[in-house]
Amino acid sequence: MTHAHAAKFDWDVTRSRARRTKRWSVYGDDVLDLTVAEMDLPIADPIMAVLKEAVERQSFGYPVPRARSPLPEIAARWLTEHHGLATEPAAVHLLPELMSGITNAVRLFTRPGSAVVVPTPTYRSFFGAIELAGREAVQAPLVRAEDGYRLDYDRIDAALAAGAGSVLLCHPANPVGRIYRPEELRQLAGLVTRHGARVISDEIHAPLRYQEDFTPYASVGDEAREHAVTLFSATKAWNIPGLRCGFIALPNAADQALWAALPAAATGGISPLGMVASAAAFQHGKPWLDQAVGYLAANRALLGRLLADAGLPDVYTPPEATYLAWLDLRGLGLPDPSVRLLEHGGVATTAGPDHGQAGTGFVRLNFATQPDVLEEAATRITKAVAGLPRA
Ligand SMILES: Cc1ncc(COP(=O)(O)O)c(C=O)c1O
Repeated sequence: MTHAHAAKFDWDVTRSRARRTKRWSVYGDDVLDLTVAEMDLPIADPIMAVLKEAVERQSFGYPVPRARSPLPEIAARWLTEHHGLATEPAAVHLLPELMSGITNAVRLFTRPGSAVVVPTPTYRSFFGAIELAGREAVQAPLVRAEDGYRLDYDRIDAALAAGAGSVLLCHPANPVGRIYRPEELRQLAGLVTRHGARVISDEIHAPLRYQEDFTPYASVGDEAREHAVTLFSATKAWNIPGLRCGFIALPNAADQALWAALPAAATGGISPLGMVASAAAFQHGKPWLDQAVGYLAANRALLGRLLADAGLPDVYTPPEATYLAWLDLRGLGLPDPSVRLLEHGGVATTAGPDHGQAGTGFVRLNFATQPDVLEEAATRITKAVAGLPRA
């Protein structure tokens, strides 16, 4: 079948399967797995070139020390020029992965023992990262407004008043796809400042957005800059999560000193391959990224048409960012619709409650695949929900 996709890639799912990563290895061949956040797209040429070269050089030792690496400067430039957060290289520290960065940030930068407020639904690994820090997560479910999800400031305020020491923001939000607006972030910053708390903002999905405007949390004012830390990486947008390299931006000098004193056991595990790949992504990866976002935008629209054809016209609001669709299947009257889709349709989606209590009745679906796969998934979903109510 041919598709009027704006941005074409020479790729198919057979080649994704041959990667032998988690993406296509959890279920048997009969299941279309739309859970894992990897993309069925080829890796950008500039990234492949540096990786091949690094493999030829046998660059498999320990990573170059931060002080000797050009990466903090390259990442700071990316943040400043493409992410909207003016950042000095001294503020940028390297991580093997964002979740360990969050665990360390909670431990280091928040009041000892304080709970972490989490607007939900959110990225499910946040809960484990908080638990590893030995802290309690207090969920503050997002409020569904006419035009998308909003933070519940009253809930957040009450949790901070009750002693929580930080807010763990996912911006853009996985799984609901929302990009918070500057005035919303400023309102949050006001609350957080009043309570002397911190914000940990995971902005990994920002490059995968369908609109130009994006405001990093830490950029909305001096107070936000003082109390925020920002996590980001090339791994999600350029589809290289197995290469183990991410970043935390610490604009506050006191935070930088605390982070620099962390033992190697807390920050080790960064891969030299991930470092060269991230540098190539930030420096030379923009054309591929633009093409990928064009491709994903076409899928994002296609999914809406397919769900409408499947008799599910109101379950999907196209996300402002991310390649994730947060489907409201509460009308089907099932305790967990993901079970139905898997068992009756052979389509794997992520169960809503994995993202927090607010997710009951929802599923998350990754649409960063080939259009044919989405079409097949829609056919299967239609079959799986046939005969169910559509309240
Ligand atoms: C919001 C968010 N943060 C972080 C990650 C990746 O985390 P890590 O770098 O720990 O693999 C993902 C992956 O899907 C994500 O959605």
